[in-house]
Amino acid sequence: MWLWDTQEVALLFSITLYVCHLAGAISIRSPQQSLTRPVQQDVLFSVDISCVGIPTIQWTFMSGRVSRDIGAWQPGGYTNVSEDYMDRILMYTNGSMGLSDLRIQDTGFYVITVTELSGRSKDAGFVLNVEEVLYEDLQYLAVFAIVLASLSGFLMVSMWLMDKAYSQINAWRQRRQMPENDVTELQPL
Ligand SMILES: *[C@@H]1O[C@H](CO)[C@@H](O)[C@H](O)[C@H]1NC(C)=O
Ligand SMILES: *[C@@H]1O[C@H](CO)[C@@H](O)[C@H](O)[C@H]1NC(C)=O
Repeated sequence: MWLWDTQEVALLFSITLYVCHLAGAISIRSPQQSLTRPVQQDVLFSVDISCVGIPTIQWTFMSGRVSRDIGAWQPGGYTNVSEDYMDRILMYTNGSMGLSDLRIQDTGFYVITVTELSGRSKDAGFVLNVEEVLYEDLQYLAVFAIVLASLSGFLMVSMWLMDKAYSQINAWRQRRQMPENDVTELQPL
């Protein structure tokens, strides 16, 4: 009575495996979980989800003590994106999320929560680092160079003007001194 034949054991085993597979089954795969992007560029938090049925996907932003709902959606169903992110979010059916026009304040953790209809859920996290762009520094440098160039141009022009004025004054002085000399030369006569 207690001795099951191998076929029954195998059947029971495979049923157990199947149930386990169903139960433990949410998987979130992502090619890259640590991302660095320059300001004003876009980022794609790329994930590939496998789970039972149609999941609910939710993305949350965390930085320090701040935690913000970005949005939630069901592929082929509803979407609910927070107003702060309305214009910058792209939602994909595979669970991936695109964020455009990045700002320094977007630096932080992005958590995806996948919830099955049964209520079972799983999280995965991303780290995003948004960097200041180098060409902003270059712009300052360019402005500085322009200021310097115009300053030296101004100096050159004013030196030229001063030089011209100096020779004119000299010529005028000489012209004024001439009759005076004539007078002094004439005086003894
Ligand atoms: C998810 O879908 C997006 C858009 O089609 C794609 O760019 C991305 O590579 C996909 N992610 C994965 C991990 O397959
Ligand atoms: C949409 O999101 C807001 C805030 O995150 C939440 O209060 C609301 O219940 C959500 N609505 C739906 C239909 O999920």
